[in-house]
Amino acid sequence: MPKIIFKHGTSTTEVEALNGETLLEAANRNGVKIFGGCGGAGVCGTCHVVIDPAYTSKLKPASDSEADVLDVLPNAAPLSRLACQVVISDELDGVTVAVP
Ligand code: FES
Repeated sequence: MPKIIFKHGTSTTEVEALNGETLLEAANRNGVKIFGGCGGAGVCGTCHVVIDPAYTSKLKPASDSEADVLDVLPNAAPLSRLACQVVISDELDGVTVAVP
């Protein structure tokens, strides 16, 4: 099972994720609070996270609709993603995900 390290403020939480679940699902299933206002539909932007740059090449690029949501977030960064749209696979083992 891939390990995902969620970084929130100055603390980190390492969780065991399941292949096929999203970052949002892995976080919430393991007690890491990431608010998902639209229930994972990818339209609200409340699940915004920033991905470790070493792993961005291992992710599928953001869809046009995800990119549209990220474009209007005031604190979005080049490595921003929506946690509800990133599906976990073994390739993400060890990734750090910052929760703004
Ligand atoms: S939960 Fe709304 S965009 Fe991810």
